[in-house]
Amino acid sequence: MAIKQPVRIAPADGKLGVLLPGLGAVSTTFIAGVEAVKRGLGAPIGSLTQLATVRLGKRNEGRTPLIKDFVPLAALDDLEFAAWDIYEDNAYEAARKAAVLDPAMLERVREPLERIQPMEAVFDRNYVRRIVGPNVKEARTRMDKAEMLMDDIRRFRERTGVARCVMIWCGSTEVHKRPAPVHQSLKAFEAGLRANDPDIAPSQIYAYAALKMGIPYANGAPNLSVDTPALLELAREANLPVCGKDFKTGQTLMKTMIAPGLKARMLGMAGWFSTNILGNRDGEVLDDPGSFKSKEETKLSVLDQILQPNLYPQLYGNLHHSVRINYYPPRGDAKEGWDNIDIFGWLGYPMQIKINFLCRDSILAAPLVLDLVLFLDLAHRAGLRGIQEWLSFYFKAPMHAPDIYPEHDIFIQLMKLKNTLRWMRGEELITHLGLEYYD
Ligand SMILES: NC(=O)c1ccc[n+]([C@@H]2O[C@H](COP(=O)([O-])OP(=O)(O)OC[C@H]3O[C@@H](n4cnc5c(N)ncnc54)[C@H](O)[C@@H]3O)[C@@H](O)[C@H]2O)c1
Repeated sequence: MAIKQPVRIAPADGKLGVLLPGLGAVSTTFIAGVEAVKRGLGAPIGSLTQLATVRLGKRNEGRTPLIKDFVPLAALDDLEFAAWDIYEDNAYEAARKAAVLDPAMLERVREPLERIQPMEAVFDRNYVRRIVGPNVKEARTRMDKAEMLMDDIRRFRERTGVARCVMIWCGSTEVHKRPAPVHQSLKAFEAGLRANDPDIAPSQIYAYAALKMGIPYANGAPNLSVDTPALLELAREANLPVCGKDFKTGQTLMKTMIAPGLKARMLGMAGWFSTNILGNRDGEVLDDPGSFKSKEETKLSVLDQILQPNLYPQLYGNLHHSVRINYYPPRGDAKEGWDNIDIFGWLGYPMQIKINFLCRDSILAAPLVLDLVLFLDLAHRAGLRGIQEWLSFYFKAPMHAPDIYPEHDIFIQLMKLKNTLRWMRGEELITHLGLEYYD
């Protein structure tokens, strides 16, 4: 039974442009995957928008539509891709180099991938130090570069006739920076763009260009990007949804599944040591201490919030948590992670859990990009603006309102996501109370 009026959602008519700063392992695995799914060459495993259902009403009503049938999402056939990168490789060549998907699979989607030629990037080696490439815009100020990005978007719109766009940052992790005075208001930020203020990162120039063009923005990397008062002001002013930061894959995904379970049983934790080997370009960029610092911050923050040591000092007050990423080229994208968790139980008796996750980074990230594209577009058509906390499910360091803590527990995040979809459609929210079944 509907308890409220559904939110008005504009239909997903016409094509949806997907704008990707960064045409590396994640972007190409995402695009190649969408093309493969469209041709029936593989299944979109890991994607909620394609596979998950949402329960409606009581448990005995048997109403569990697919999410994609419950809310109006853009169809895969309606996606049009564009990207920027500092390298000139088209999406097929970039995917071959990233070596995530096997050559036989890439051959079968070669034609649509070859059509995606990266546009010249807005790049600054002070923000990403380990790579250098020729396909970079030259201009006097950061504002000039933002305008060049807006021209790129205009040309893409004209060429493809897309009705709407979303932008997802899939570029390298930029060095760690705290927000500076130039990030505190839109006025200061725009003055900074004109004055070519070095505190404005390339990812922020892309975010600014997107928002100025009426395009929602998501950040798949840990650097600040849109997460500043200035750009949030612009997002709110322009009625645009934004979200970030840092796709939740691999070790952090495991952490946000396991830590809530241990805490649910009031088991103590003395330490969690995580180490990884990773050999793709992302690993190379993260080998730089500045970029690693951005990643470390997002990776370390999750346990503190989930375990709440302030409420449970006896269980989690003395937790040693460390995260290492080691660049090890032979592994390419096939990352291996080891976790050692020192826990303690009844009367303080110690125990250990070991996790050895042989994962594929971009295989885990690609469905997240797809879901974020479709959900951000949905949010926009539903008139939602500013930070989309219901999309925290996808991020290691979810953006959040200044006066609340971020929610990291993946099960709470999932409930929030599905309740938001129910709320959009005027369906009853699910609390799991369930007393009515026993009255
Ligand atoms: N599972 C995952 O793979 C995963 C998880 C979480 C976050 N991420 C983040 O997603 C991002 C992409 O990961 P990836 O594995 O595809 O890395 P990648 O190195 O393969 O691709 C990133 C691409 O961005 C390009 N680039 C860098 N700066 C740019 C700029 N200013 N403009 C345009 N292009 C630029 C690089 O040349 C590179 O081709 C990284 O920041 C990574 O930390 C990835």
